[in-house]
Amino acid sequence: MKIVGICGSPREGASEYLLKRALNELEKEDSFETTFISVKDKDISPCTHCNECAETKGKCSISDDMDEIYKALKEADGIIMASPIHFGSISAQLKAVIDRCQAMIMEDLDIFKNKVGISIVVGGDRSGGQELAIQQINTFYLLNKIIPLSGGSFGANLGACLWSQDDGAEGVKEDEYGLKTLGMTISHFKEFLLEFKT
Ligand SMILES: Cc1cc2nc3c(=O)[nH]c(=O)nc-3n(C[C@H](O)[C@H](O)[C@H](O)COP(=O)(O)O)c2cc1C
Repeated sequence: MKIVGICGSPREGASEYLLKRALNELEKEDSFETTFISVKDKDISPCTHCNECAETKGKCSISDDMDEIYKALKEADGIIMASPIHFGSISAQLKAVIDRCQAMIMEDLDIFKNKVGISIVVGGDRSGGQELAIQQINTFYLLNKIIPLSGGSFGANLGACLWSQDDGAEGVKEDEYGLKTLGMTISHFKEFLLEFKT
């Protein structure tokens, strides 16, 4: 099974560390082949709603680094979106990726159907909008028939919520509780994919 992880942070920080940690965990199973993609250093413009994708059934008028992401998303059985919290929300860079998926959806309304998705979010504050950000990612999943998963109650209610204390990867390594939410979420993602996708 192919898993793509998309990191929405504009820098090499906590989100990248967490997403790589999650992908490494999946790689321990022979069944998973993972791809890491970061928006950092990528040229990804926001959607301009020019409607070319609707008129051409999938061709985006913008030519930039989204092509690599389109290919990975199309091939993926599982999707992990990771984002820093920027003003109680996902990063603008991740939102640009999400909005540009309109071109894929115009190609085929069921292009994402029954893929499985989880979220990893990290804020500088313990409660800085993590659940709001997951809600945004989950809304994208639901709108496109992607099955959203979490790690379940008593820990990972909506997914992996972490706290970096604004100290990037080093800060998040100290968030024992947050790392537990990541472990629970990955564990259920893995279990679900192995049970229903093989
Ligand atoms: C523009 C901006 C807005 C931010 N807003 C929030 C916020 O609303 N809540 C929060 O907890 N942290 C906020 N932060 C802090 C980051 O979420 C935090 O440092 C996070 O760990 C960064 O992740 P990264 O290292 O993967 O980039 C903000 C950071 C920036 C740059």
